[in-house]
Amino acid sequence: MNLKPLFDLEAMPGNERHDNGFTGQDILSVSQFDKEKLSYIFERAREMRAVVKHASGVDLLKGHVLACLFYEPSTRTSSSFIAAMERLGGGVIPITQGVQFSSVSKGETLADTIRTLEQYADVIVLRHPEIGSAKAAASYASVPVINAGDGTGEHPTQSLLDLFTIQDELGRLEGLKVAMIGDLRYGRTVHSLTKLLLQYDVSLRFVSPEILRLPLAIMNQVIDAGVDVRETHEVADVIENADVLYVTRVQKERFTDLAQYEEVKEFYKITPEIMKRAKEKMVVMHPLPRVGEIHYTVDSDPRAAYFRQVQNGMYIRMALLAMVLGKA
Ligand code: CP
Repeated sequence: MNLKPLFDLEAMPGNERHDNGFTGQDILSVSQFDKEKLSYIFERAREMRAVVKHASGVDLLKGHVLACLFYEPSTRTSSSFIAAMERLGGGVIPITQGVQFSSVSKGETLADTIRTLEQYADVIVLRHPEIGSAKAAASYASVPVINAGDGTGEHPTQSLLDLFTIQDELGRLEGLKVAMIGDLRYGRTVHSLTKLLLQYDVSLRFVSPEILRLPLAIMNQVIDAGVDVRETHEVADVIENADVLYVTRVQKERFTDLAQYEEVKEFYKITPEIMKRAKEKMVVMHPLPRVGEIHYTVDSDPRAAYFRQVQNGMYIRMALLAMVLGKA
């Protein structure tokens, strides 16, 4: 039989990678990002938005594969990573409908699952209930691992899209008064966003019931950074001055005592009445899902930015995927 080679590899473009400082890197924590890196990511995200608006997508990551491994439920993070990869022409292994349908249900360890997926994929996105799981996964993997939420630890890609949204909506990051409301204890998006905001000249207000206050370790970082900060139980104390109202859900799944959850689950509800007291130019944000803490009648308020925030998540994740794969 005359066996001719299928491919002329020398004639193919190959897999050249940019040296952008992110190529091959894991994305585990917001502590990896200084202002210069944030500007780079945001500029790339704006380019991604332009290409989606103009052409729906582009083949920048054609031939690349993303493994999306979610041990906890997700709508936005999982869908936006999948959409991001597909709009860049890549493919996805979606283990997002619950790891009970994977070999994890047979007792496979995180280490073996990661070492298996990296045989197929060029990048792995992981959501896992344990703090430090993404860092552990990164130590097992030779491909980049992106933390999509590790328990009550961090959710760095959410915070990048949050910060991007604030800049996009208000045109600046310096000099803002940011109020975070709700479950500041378990809300990993609050933890990550707070750390990012410490790089800017901002005032921070933390509004929560006593049992859901910001963890001391993060509050100490805020104090050490010399930021103007106050804690309160009352939205009324912050609503008139806030440029950003960052509202969060009380995370029922993190409570060991459900009676405690019942006590605080309806502590806050942002309504049109409350919004009458807010500045004309400000934004209401929420990482979503919401379970009642922002009334649906607020959605038509132009200051309600949470669905624009959702869309920005896809652009930020397009930028990150292209960057860690050395293509942007
Ligand atoms: N904001 C966020 O992480 O949403 P999902 O839990 O739906 O991914």
